[in-house]
Amino acid sequence: MITEKNKLSANPRKRKTCICRVLRLNVNFKGIMKSKSKPAIILGIETSCDETAAAVVEDGRHVLSSAIASSVEEQALYGGIVPEIASRRHIESISQVAAQALAGAGLALQDIDAVAVTAAPGLIGALLVGVNFAKGLAFAAGKPLVPVHHLRGHVASLYLSYPQLTPPFLCLVASGGHCHFVLVRGHTAFQVLGRTVDDAAGEAFDKVARTLKLGYPGGPAIAKAALGGDATRYSLPTPKVADAFDVSFSGLKTAALNIVNQCAMKGEALDVPGLAASFQQKVAAILADKLFAAAAHTGAKTVALAGGVAANALLRQMIETRARENGLAAVLAEIRYTGDNAAMIAAQGFFEYQAGHVAGPALNATATMPMDEEFMAKEAPF
Ligand code: KG4
Ligand code: ZN
Repeated sequence: MITEKNKLSANPRKRKTCICRVLRLNVNFKGIMKSKSKPAIILGIETSCDETAAAVVEDGRHVLSSAIASSVEEQALYGGIVPEIASRRHIESISQVAAQALAGAGLALQDIDAVAVTAAPGLIGALLVGVNFAKGLAFAAGKPLVPVHHLRGHVASLYLSYPQLTPPFLCLVASGGHCHFVLVRGHTAFQVLGRTVDDAAGEAFDKVARTLKLGYPGGPAIAKAALGGDATRYSLPTPKVADAFDVSFSGLKTAALNIVNQCAMKGEALDVPGLAASFQQKVAAILADKLFAAAAHTGAKTVALAGGVAANALLRQMIETRARENGLAAVLAEIRYTGDNAAMIAAQGFFEYQAGHVAGPALNATATMPMDEEFMAKEAPF
């Protein structure tokens, strides 16, 4: 299903390409990697959750096209992601979305240098659709296949809007499934300093939004409700964690739930905007506190924010303000690249490709995988 969420950005240097050429599959086994310094055009494929996305990116920084079909509206009917629905929508949309991305870039499959695909982490059935599709394309076109870690992709979303940005920098990657404080040492070198010990930040927003009957996805719904609320209305606890750069959101979520239940038991009216604002304030403060503690510890000069939760205006504002106060540079993912997209996968795919991280025909998808691990090449590439 292609929804109004679709985005297609045209390449200004567009060459005229007939769409029927786009998915013509020429079998050619001369997929030889370009030299390290030469720019490369990567087709990225992303299907780890509910977005079916494809994009064409040049040298990891310049987006030539980006197409997205999302099943989020259908998922919202169920109050969250139903994995089987996500997989089924991916398989229906993937060919058309990939064709859109190539056409948007004015390129044919033969014009690209490699196919990059999210191979971990994510919903396994959803990942398998993208991996299998990318594998088919790479095999048929004789192009290298580059597996990409989804969270590395979120980090790479920063290069799309800040082409001059180069590691090292400290990045908070906050999404629906993960919450990591990462020292980005190089384009393919990551050190995870801390993480959530329970719920991810986006997951906490989603769960509290469900309790408040604000709908799915919860992050934007809470942010919207919070606009009319007093952030000091309800007092919420700051969860304790053993490790300096870890965070926890499960107790916060329970505290919000207790407020809702107590109001119901006492017959008091719940101040929904007040609770949304208090919760958002607390989550943003916890994330910002840890990010700047990690910056002080590592001596990082640049702090960055990426992932779906990076769309949160309060969190962005807090990080910008505190970076200014601390004399640090703040780099925030552009809103259109905060949620899942394939431009970020193609961007990271470029750096993995440059590093020689290519896969072979037996590439598999993995539901969980640390972001500082490499995909094991068990066989010769295509
Ligand atoms: O990165 P993403 O698109 O998908 C995953 O990889 O999980 O992140 C989705 C998450 C959802 O939990 C959603 O509620 C959250 O990002 N989110 C937000 C906002 N927009 C999306 N959280 C807080 N504030 C927002 N404005
Ligand atoms: Zn994501």
